[in-house]
Amino acid sequence: MASVAPLPVLEALTTAVLVIDTDSLVCYLNPATEALLEISAQRAHGQPLGELLPMGATLQAALLAAVEGSSTTLREIALERPGSETPLLLDCTVAPFTTWSGNGLVVVELARVDQLMRITREAWLQERQDALHEIVRALAHEIKNPLGGLRGAAQLLDRELPRRELREYTRIITHEADRLGGLVDRMTGSFRVLGREPFNLHAVLEHVRKLTLVEIPEGLVFERDYDPSIPELTGDREQMVQAVLNIVRNAVQAMAGRGVIALRTRVRHQFTLHNRRHRLAVEVWITDDGPGIDPAMIEKVFFPMVTGRADGTGLGLAIAQEAVNRHGGTIECVSRPGKTRFTLYLPVEGDA
Ligand SMILES: Nc1ncnc2c1ncn2[C@@H]1O[C@H](COP(=O)(O)OP(=O)(O)O)[C@@H](O)[C@H]1O
Ligand SMILES: [Mg+2]
Repeated sequence: MASVAPLPVLEALTTAVLVIDTDSLVCYLNPATEALLEISAQRAHGQPLGELLPMGATLQAALLAAVEGSSTTLREIALERPGSETPLLLDCTVAPFTTWSGNGLVVVELARVDQLMRITREAWLQERQDALHEIVRALAHEIKNPLGGLRGAAQLLDRELPRRELREYTRIITHEADRLGGLVDRMTGSFRVLGREPFNLHAVLEHVRKLTLVEIPEGLVFERDYDPSIPELTGDREQMVQAVLNIVRNAVQAMAGRGVIALRTRVRHQFTLHNRRHRLAVEVWITDDGPGIDPAMIEKVFFPMVTGRADGTGLGLAIAQEAVNRHGGTIECVSRPGKTRFTLYLPVEGDA
């Protein structure tokens, strides 16, 4: 079988590339392919391509075409993975390739579609969120300044009041001004600085789980599926607790306290977040089997003041998103009746 010397440029590439000979045996695969297909180059070497990818009729036709000199791109090949309910969607380009020494080979390029879509969507959401953040910030500024004046004036008035019982009114003004100020602070998330310490993600999830079970001791079941290989994360443990708590509380409220919440963690390799590629990231699924998010609201749930509950503030998810963003991560959500899933992606620091 032909052997292909690893080219430094292919080794550094984040696109998955593998080379096969005309019998479809693997002669080379780059580290990005190893990460994507979760197989070592050593193990893959010499294997038929069909061992690594689902060898459907279209892929077979594409390989034949490549041997005959033309290239083909196959859209959205579904690669089932053990231990995962969602298949990996791959765009696959198969192209002929001749080595210096005249050997005919075939290059197979794999691109993750879901990840590409996710990155595009993430950028789009981020833009919307940034714009919204700008508005909230400007609005907060406009509210807080006069609020300070209002509060100061109420205090001065309080001292000048001739009758004690009138103070009740100035007390209400001060109290409401403080409440509004607190709300604005929470909306802008400007009230806390971000801690930067190592913390254990599973400890955060367990903390939230226990806290929730203390609040709702009956009717709620937590399922846990934690990936023990997840290293420590760096950041603000308290803020992460708050983020997870806000998501879990929503699930509990949506299910009216009865149902199953599944917590699942996984390590993700070569993962792009906010345009930065991380060697390691973690994925957290928080899934509930409640009624789901109102479809009319799903695009806006992370916005402040968006709520579907009569007594809601609409701040829970905005605060969660802000906290996760500040850790370089992101939150996503998919929902249908019976299954709502929030996915948190967080980079593992120290690998940049
Ligand atoms: N797991 C879930 N199931 C159903 N609806 C949800 C879920 N999570 C969030 N929501 C919807 O998103 C809205 C916004 O949530 P959030 O930002 O926490 O604000 P609040 O809880 O104050 O309403 C909720 O009011 C609810 O309608
Ligand atoms: Mg909430």
